[in-house]
Amino acid sequence: MSSIKHIAIIMDGNGRWAKERGRPRAWGHIRGANKVSAIVSEAAKIGLDSLTLYTFSTENWSRPKDEVASIFKLLKKFLLKEKHNLLINNIKFNVIGNYRVLDSSVVEVIDNLISTTMNNTGLNLSLAINYGGRTEIVDAVNDFLKDGPKKEITEKDISEHLYNQSLNNIDLLIRTAGDKRISNFLLWQISYAEMFFTDTKWPDFEVKDFKAILDEVKFRDRRFGKIQESKVVSLTKTSALS
Ligand code: FPP
Repeated sequence: MSSIKHIAIIMDGNGRWAKERGRPRAWGHIRGANKVSAIVSEAAKIGLDSLTLYTFSTENWSRPKDEVASIFKLLKKFLLKEKHNLLINNIKFNVIGNYRVLDSSVVEVIDNLISTTMNNTGLNLSLAINYGGRTEIVDAVNDFLKDGPKKEITEKDISEHLYNQSLNNIDLLIRTAGDKRISNFLLWQISYAEMFFTDTKWPDFEVKDFKAILDEVKFRDRRFGKIQESKVVSLTKTSALS
């Protein structure tokens, strides 16, 4: 059984993809959104437990107003269109991040999708919207403290106060479009994540690329800070000889 149960993706490169083609950035986001559905379906098909997609960060508000507006317009359209796919594929939809500040029509669509899919038992699909990893950790600590300081805070306390406790550990983080950075995404949850950076820009990212990454990553030796069993045996033997 694969140790990859939760995958997070930074879907980067829409803007550059559009620019290379002499088109506006919003066009890149449209083409990017078209790629989301196929990856979500594939994740459900292979029996992945969770997929978390970086859709809009707390820092993305500093983009030009019309670009921000186009992303949310697209998001609403995408969610309305995706509803059927989520239902037939038994996908449970959720959002991490403070989406309540968005336009009420977008909030309504999100809330509807969350409640319509809440009893689904397949893939947990989360979109990170108005999400920041540092903010999530600060929010978790404040949530812990809100009933008054009780004791010294532990890792377990923080984990239990994150936006979605069941999404705690990321096994694989994929970032498209060449940059090798985390950009404030799921800082707590990626502690032992495998990283995969591809030069392919998100609008060009295909199901076959997703499958190829999974095939590569499954051969990685995930030691979680420990050493391999075989090495433990040989080290014991070595110390017995000395
Ligand atoms: C990064 O590309 C992408 C985003 C900021 C948003 C991700 C959004 C989508 C894939 C489309 C909408 C998503 C859904 C789920 C409907 P960029 O603009 O930072 O590209 P660049 O680095 O080339 O400028």
